[in-house]
This record gives sequence, structure tokens and C-alpha cells, in this order.
Amino acid sequence: MAPSTTVSSGPGSASAIGIRTAIVPAAGLGTRFLPTTKAVPKELFPVVDTPGIEYVAREAAEAGAKRLVIVTSPGKDAVAQYFQPQPELEETLERRGKTELLAKVRVAPGLLAVETAIQDEPLGLGHAVSCAEPNLEPEDEAVAVLLPDDLVLPTGVLGRMAGIRARYGGTVLCAFDIPRAEISPYGVFDVEDTDDPDVKKVNGMVEKPAPEDAPSTYAAAGRYLLDRAVFGALKRITPGAGGELQLTDAIAMLIAEGHSVHVVVHRGGRHDLGNPGGFLRAAVDFALVDPEYGPDLREWLRGRVEE
Ligand code: UTP
Repeated sequence: MAPSTTVSSGPGSASAIGIRTAIVPAAGLGTRFLPTTKAVPKELFPVVDTPGIEYVAREAAEAGAKRLVIVTSPGKDAVAQYFQPQPELEETLERRGKTELLAKVRVAPGLLAVETAIQDEPLGLGHAVSCAEPNLEPEDEAVAVLLPDDLVLPTGVLGRMAGIRARYGGTVLCAFDIPRAEISPYGVFDVEDTDDPDVKKVNGMVEKPAPEDAPSTYAAAGRYLLDRAVFGALKRITPGAGGELQLTDAIAMLIAEGHSVHVVVHRGGRHDLGNPGGFLRAAVDFALVDPEYGPDLREWLRGRVEE
């Protein structure tokens, strides 16, 4: 699987069918990356030279989103600052004739309009998403949520999810088909088939089941197309595991109330940037196809692995 970094809005792009606003929750503590996350938000760690959150913002823009609401916490201002233009830096690069670097630093500010919502305390993903509700506009009948530590490759699944929402309405999630023996770390969907083998109707969800108890082999990924009704459910759920408000509890409540929820099964790759092991894999995967660093790295890795 080659990492995809394309930014394009192809035919059938989701903008035509409704993704205007994307929410990226980035207010977590990043404990798995301590001690570094004492000072640097994990969302800004570079995968080769570009932070994960830029890849996710590119994916949202490619899917047609015009606005990105980044949920940050006090002390994580650098995440939103990353999307601000830097006129002095740009001028210096221009003067020095560094055109390639100039193009790179201009990508993030040019992708889409970025605004922030503040989550004062890390009370869970559901709570983080609810913090972005005041940023929504009346036209936002549904919003995309992208977890910045989950790279879903190749990009494009949001567009397919928007197509499924256009057909069935409601909320659409993204799933990976995982070998049953490896299913335990994931949230797993209880599903029934539709006429499309890659689209399932969701009847429920189980967090981190033992392989024999998993209702399917379809595991949740960090891409959501949430009907606005989810914000109502987020107000009605009670804190779950660890005192946190879980997004999956709000979705489960809606399913129980008859709300339509489907998953699109993404047949591709993913990288979990949220832990050092997954992050290193992503960095190596992206570096191997980098024209500047790839050839040397490949050579070095071969020798190093044989040692
Ligand atoms: P994670 O659980 O992967 O991130 O949440 P975390 O809590 O920062 O990481 P660890 O477990 O302590 O290492 C997925 C995404 O949701 C955001 C995180 O920033 C991450 O991007 N999140 C999580 C919030 O914005 N607020 C929360 O209260 C929890």
C-alpha cells in the first residue's frame, strides 16, 4: 500500500452531496506519547515532514469540506496555529528561492477555513465532538468527524460515506474488515447485509469484544459522517468507561431509537498515529515512497534488519 497524499476533488466528490464542515478532535492528552506530549501535541508529530493533522485536513478538503473545526484544549494552540499563514517565513523562503518549501508551507493554510472549539477537560471523544456544536451552521445537516491519529488510505472513503447517506439518510461510519483473531482492541459493529457487499446496516456496536464474542469482523475506524441528531444524543448519554462521554454511546442510543446507521467497509490500509509503534510504521511507510529519503532508507533498513 502506497501512502496517498493527493488533494483533489474528483467527480462524485462529497461536496455535491453534503459535507461542508469537518470536525477534528485534537484535545486529548496523548498519554501514550508521554513524555513528549507534555510540550508538543501529538497531532503535530511529523510523518516524514508533514504532521498527521495536515493529512487529515487534506482528506476533509478532498471530500469537499469547506470548514474544519479543530477541537483543542488550553495549551494546544499550536495545532490551530499550524493552519495560519506565516507571511514572514514565506517572504524569507521566497527571497532565498526556496520554491518547493514555500509550496509546502502554503498547503495547510490554503486547504479550508479553520476554526477552533475548546474542550476544557479531556472528557472523551463524544464530549470533544459536542464542544464543536456551537460552530455548526444551520446548513450543516451532517458533519464529518475525522480522528487525526487515524490515517485511512487511500483517501476517498468520506465521499463514499456521503453517497450512502444520500441513499439511506442518517449516520454513516467507516469500518475495516479485520481478522477475527485480531478484533479485540476495536469497537465492532453488529451488522446486516445490504445489496452492496461493502455497505452494512448497523444494529449495534460492541467495544473491545473477545474474538468469540465479536458480532462481526467489521471494526470501527476514525471516520464518521454524523447526522446532526447525534448532537442531541450526546446531551442525553451519561458518562461511560473512564467517566468519559463516548461517541459510540450516542450512536448506540440513536440506533436503539430507530435512527438509520450504516457502515462503509473500506478495503484499504490505515495507520494508527496515536501510539509510538503505529506512528513509526506510518513514518517508515511514507518515507519509503519519498523520492528524497526512500532509496537510502530502504537500503539502510535492509542491512539493519539483517544485522
Ligand atoms: P485518543 O484516545 O486516540 O487520544 O482519542 P488521546 O486520549 O489523546 O490519547 P491517549 O489514549 O491518552 O494516548 C482520539 C482522538 O480524540 C481526541 C484526541 O485528541 C485524538 O485525536 N480526543 C480524545 C479529544 O479531543 N478529547 C478527548 O477528551 C479525548
